[in-house]
Amino acid sequence: MCGIIGIVGTKPVAERLIESLKRLEYRGYDSAGIAAQVDGKLVRRRAPGKLRELEAVVAADPLIAETGIGHTRWATHGAPTERNAHPHIAGRVAVVHNGIIENFAELKAELIAKGRVFSSDTDTEVVAHLIDEALNDGLDPQAAFKATLDKLRGAYALAVLVGGEREVIMGARNGPPLAVGYGDGEMFIGSDGLALGPFTNRVAYLEDGDYVIIDHNSAKIFDEAGLPAERPIKTLAAASAVMEKGNYRHFMEKEIHDQPEGCQRTIAAYVDTLSDRTAVPGGIDFAKLERIQIVGCGTAYIAGLIGKYLIEQLADLPVDVEIASEFRYREPALNSATLAIAMSQSGETADTLAALRYCQAKGMRSAGVLNTVESTIGREVDVVWPIHCGPEIGVASTKAFTAQVAVLTAVAVAAAHARGKIDGDEEKRLVRVLLEAPRLMAESIKLEEAVKAVAVEVAKARDVLYLGRGPMYPLALEGALKLKEISYIHAEGYAAGELKHGPIALVDEQTPIVILAPFDSYFEKSASNMSEVMARGGQVVFITDPDGERHAPAGARVVVTAPRCDPLIAPLVMSAPIQLLAYYVAVQKGADVDQPRNLAKSVTVE
Ligand code: AGP
Repeated sequence: MCGIIGIVGTKPVAERLIESLKRLEYRGYDSAGIAAQVDGKLVRRRAPGKLRELEAVVAADPLIAETGIGHTRWATHGAPTERNAHPHIAGRVAVVHNGIIENFAELKAELIAKGRVFSSDTDTEVVAHLIDEALNDGLDPQAAFKATLDKLRGAYALAVLVGGEREVIMGARNGPPLAVGYGDGEMFIGSDGLALGPFTNRVAYLEDGDYVIIDHNSAKIFDEAGLPAERPIKTLAAASAVMEKGNYRHFMEKEIHDQPEGCQRTIAAYVDTLSDRTAVPGGIDFAKLERIQIVGCGTAYIAGLIGKYLIEQLADLPVDVEIASEFRYREPALNSATLAIAMSQSGETADTLAALRYCQAKGMRSAGVLNTVESTIGREVDVVWPIHCGPEIGVASTKAFTAQVAVLTAVAVAAAHARGKIDGDEEKRLVRVLLEAPRLMAESIKLEEAVKAVAVEVAKARDVLYLGRGPMYPLALEGALKLKEISYIHAEGYAAGELKHGPIALVDEQTPIVILAPFDSYFEKSASNMSEVMARGGQVVFITDPDGERHAPAGARVVVTAPRCDPLIAPLVMSAPIQLLAYYVAVQKGADVDQPRNLAKSVTVE
């Protein structure tokens, strides 16, 4: 989704804006631009494509100023061309925007009727024209901004420069996040703490309906009613964290390799290593719960599905998992003895946030399994369960997925003990199993070379099927999602038992079938699915463990043998092979692994 930065600064701004936009690249974008005032006039530089294109434009035609705004655009209204790239300028006003102005068509028609001429196909341009109209009507910039905000319907984070107001930027939030950064004689606004990281780690977050005016030394924040508001200033530990790939070619590759260490941090936060007991923060009384409702999107939703298998099996506690975009509009029946769990790496996913708010309106307590704790969901849930895996930059989620699964695994064990389904000794045994996960995940990553060889073949396929049973079924969904996202190969994940109910019709010599089957209680059934596929000429990539390899029917095209582990942590240990497979297929195809086409890291609009 679009990224925003605004700087009221004391140093050359163009480089700083671009530096900050680079930290927002992970969100996904297809054009970029910056604007500033030069000699009293608003000037902008824009380019379709990546930030290097914008850098080339700026190098050829420098923009000399100390205060300015910048934007990475993820196209919604209008193609990703230069004319649609932000900032949009109308008269004395330059605007960058993240979100969707839902009533832009009617506003645009009114503005055109007043003689306004539009130069883009975007919804955003109406904002610039509305503010400029209000200025022409004699309002001061703040009043013109507020009058405009009152006319907008939809979701927005905005940053606005007004010609003649050289040392001031205005910002507003309704939906997508906007942070205010406090520097030394300089002030900033940006989409998140990472964007502000190079300049400051002192950050306040606007609330929905807020708008802000920043100058060199202050931020004046107003709430929806236009009344002055205080928002707490937090010191962010990770804001200045350097986002480096190290020796890896891509962030995704690095993040796959980061997983054992990341999960170690996660698990350490959810167990007491002295007593080998679970220690889930937040004081949720699992014994009193009647049900858990998990909501999330994409990979976060899939992590929730794995949680369902583990929690129901271990704790005998019913768990519903639903895609947030369906849940929020379905009017599901809920009761207050249900705990809502919002799964989200970013903590900003619009549908997940709306689903959470729906649950809260029903009187339910809520927990958020989050990577970005300082996020909207983080601020709105009753209990934050941080996943502690560090910033995830690759659009395809990897380390956040396993860290989310690790949190839910600890929750499953804690709930099982709290509900009397396991005794203290069994809890200790399971905690020790969980503590082994990082080491076994590291072993699993060593399969990289074997997986790379498989990837060469899979890269030739048009379609790929992933099959699994039990918790390996959601992992099959995740494998298919990863492959689709970054290699653009059509892939589907199925419960292996569904094979005969449809997908078997797809089996032919050209379609690789990835079967995820450690040697667990489901193994025999998965092995017979494998035989059924092979009997029809299907090319099986069998991902198993040493016992599974020994017992597998002969004939799998490739066997990838992950380390043997307790079923509790099999989803964690079996993740790396499917992630590496997607990664190496994408590399083989020369795809843009970290910023796949059309995808955004943080989906802050519906
Ligand atoms: C994962 O690889 C995706 N890019 C995507 O499905 C993601 O998991 C989803 O958009 C949810 O994001 P969130 O975790 O930030 O809420």
